[in-house]
Amino acid sequence: MPIKLRCPICSEPLSPEKRGAVCNNNHQFDRARQGYLNLLPSNKKRSKNPGDDQMMVEARARFLNHGHYQPVVEALIEKVSTLGNKTSQNILDAGCGEGYYTSAIKNRLEGSEVCGFDIAKPAILAASKRNKNIEWLVASVSALPLMDGQFDTIISIFSRTDWSEFSRVLKPGGHIVILTPGQNHLLALRNAIYDEVRPYPEDKRLQDLPGNFHLLESQTVRATMMLDSPQAIMDLLTMTPHYWHVNIAQKQQLEQLDQLECELEMRLSVIQKKSDPL
Ligand SMILES: C[S@@+](CC[C@H](N)C(=O)[O-])C[C@H]1O[C@@H](n2cnc3c(N)ncnc32)[C@H](O)[C@@H]1O
Ligand SMILES: [Zn+2]
Repeated sequence: MPIKLRCPICSEPLSPEKRGAVCNNNHQFDRARQGYLNLLPSNKKRSKNPGDDQMMVEARARFLNHGHYQPVVEALIEKVSTLGNKTSQNILDAGCGEGYYTSAIKNRLEGSEVCGFDIAKPAILAASKRNKNIEWLVASVSALPLMDGQFDTIISIFSRTDWSEFSRVLKPGGHIVILTPGQNHLLALRNAIYDEVRPYPEDKRLQDLPGNFHLLESQTVRATMMLDSPQAIMDLLTMTPHYWHVNIAQKQQLEQLDQLECELEMRLSVIQKKSDPL
């Protein structure tokens, strides 16, 4: 089923029109030349350019395109393909960044309708160049411009979650596949930056789910990456929150490295929305 959008101003359904999309109250949204729709009204932005900036987007694209996270893509696709209606799911990638995973999913689950959104315009711009067969939106996770009850699966990879919005747009019995950092995720990178490194704590969001969701299963995805250039190491830093925390001395220390063997360790969890009571 095609993805059904709703107006971010009045919540009425959005219908396609020549230049983009329009609602019954004549709120119009132009499709960008690159194919995405900007459904984030400027009065709902907390800052002028929210989300990841151009440099982070480029670093993430370069790093992921090298295939360093391929084992994660494989685990994700395998999991999503076992959920719900295997041949034709409606899938939403929430906080999709520059669309690396979104695009891989669309390419492998061809019969599916896929929508990816992110609050960062540079990310969605890059995503729309990556794959033309996806509905790309600039939007916020806390006010989804999407009609109710239409998605079989929501994917959330190292991104923000809004359980009430996720619940609203999911079908009854629909799933959320969420990737969060494992205790030792990127330990070698963290060891190279900080004097003292503690394991990442368990993600509290998974222990504190609202009553209409339950955690179905969780598994660990592990792999060892060989980063064999200073560029790859700096790209990894730039695409993670450590980018905001390092000081100049720590960054310079990292820049000295020619190579780094680094573990990735992620938790892949499946959360299910309970079916509506009969
Ligand atoms: C760590 S990145 C992950 C990107 C992508 N899922 C991936 O793994 O490649 C987190 C993303 O969340 C986006 N983001 C931050 N706040 C957001 C919000 N309120 N709504 C939607 N996206 C948001 C950022 O712009 C960024 O692209
Ligand atoms: Zn409207």
